Amino acid sequence: MSFAEEQYVIRGGKPLEGEVVIAGAKNAALGILAAAVMTDEKVTIENVPYVSDTRTLLKAIENIGATVEYLDKHTVVICGKGIREGQPVDDEYIRRIRASYYLIGALLGKHKYANVALPGGCDIGSRPIDLHIKGFEKLGAETEIVSGGSIVAQAKELHGAHIYLDTVSVGATINIMMAASLSPGKTTIENAAKEPHIVDVANFLNTMGANIKGAGTDVIRVRGVEKLHGAEYSIIPDQIEAGTFMAMTVATRGNVLIKNVIPKHLEAISSKLVEMGAHVIEYDDSVRVMADGVLKATQIKTLPYPGFPTDMQAQMAAILGLADGTSIVTESIFENRFRYVAELARMGAKIRVEGNSAIITGTKKYNGATLRATDLRAGAALVIAALAANGVSNIENIQYIKRGYEEFADKVSALGGMMKVAENEQEVTKKKLELASNL
Ligand code: UD1
Repeated sequence: MSFAEEQYVIRGGKPLEGEVVIAGAKNAALGILAAAVMTDEKVTIENVPYVSDTRTLLKAIENIGATVEYLDKHTVVICGKGIREGQPVDDEYIRRIRASYYLIGALLGKHKYANVALPGGCDIGSRPIDLHIKGFEKLGAETEIVSGGSIVAQAKELHGAHIYLDTVSVGATINIMMAASLSPGKTTIENAAKEPHIVDVANFLNTMGANIKGAGTDVIRVRGVEKLHGAEYSIIPDQIEAGTFMAMTVATRGNVLIKNVIPKHLEAISSKLVEMGAHVIEYDDSVRVMADGVLKATQIKTLPYPGFPTDMQAQMAAILGLADGTSIVTESIFENRFRYVAELARMGAKIRVEGNSAIITGTKKYNGATLRATDLRAGAALVIAALAANGVSNIENIQYIKRGYEEFADKVSALGGMMKVAENEQEVTKKKLELASNL
């Protein structure tokens, strides 16, 4: 069996009920795991989500000489001592995930030399890394793209700098913050991204001895230190996994307690769900989401944090397709992030894309269909739609979804959703029949 053959088989129509525990934040984990190799001492990281993106990055880190030991499913001990200076970082793992670019900032800071294969990841339009490179150059590095598609960044000496980011970029902010931590002098990053995972990576680096202030605001100040040391750190909960379960609860008119979250990080999502007619009750580290009856249309525009997250755009569109009235969803971060629209249309959704907006006319019910995930969050949107649909759906290309959702089918099943993993086409047919007859 190849991974590409795996599919989800989902029968819709059951309101989700119960409790779900959210994993650690994937996007924080990717920055933190890369930053962990910046010291030669041991680093213990807890609450690492067990998803394919983190496992892939850990394989890549291991392949360049670090040791990686899983103490349990969510706790990893990393030691970057064995990483050979000057060695190119290039293998099948590095090229599989976009966040491997964090190894440029990490290794440039640590060894003043990084040679890292260019990133892959989800195909959601052109995703340049010019701002990362500009930042490294301001810190004193020379950079070039060498044959075979790798980036080399090197410096005799790094130094602090004043860096203004033309566009708010999560990746550039984290990458520059890492390299600047080991660049002597003062660095200021202006127009920095403010996402919760920026704060988490900064907190982690500070636990390792870095001196970073202002993370979570748009001006981050870093005072370079000579070296970093070992640390123990626990990753924050995943805002997007939580948001996905919130949207899924609303789509199925369910009632779910979503545990291990930071409600503040979910405010943009909660407020849109409330506008749609759902109820969201916030507790210290959980939220309860409830919905019944008719959902109302609304307008959403994706923006950098604290605005509405682009990584929740597709999931919201999936539920707005079932709301009463016309909604407009505007994507202002990435181009080409509406590829799921054609898939939802196969289920009966009425969505028209005009420029960077999707105009959604609500329909009463989706119908089950054979669907294809086009990227991670688009895939999550299809799972939501399928759980709300009449009949049985199967979703192909779930390797995208597994990049960011831990034990997705198990978590949904525990809430009463009818979702199974099928390993190949024959199993898809078998599981579809099983689910269809399970009245
Ligand atoms: C990260 C997240 C991704 C999320 C995105 C926006 C990770 C691993 N991924 O992606 O899930 O969707 O933030 O919240 O954390 N840009 C440039 N030049 C650059 C870098 C970015 O022009 O050098 C542009 C991008 O094309 C995009 C915008 O800046 O239009 C924001 O991208 P960015 O925040 O960098 O996204 P990622 O870090 O790739």
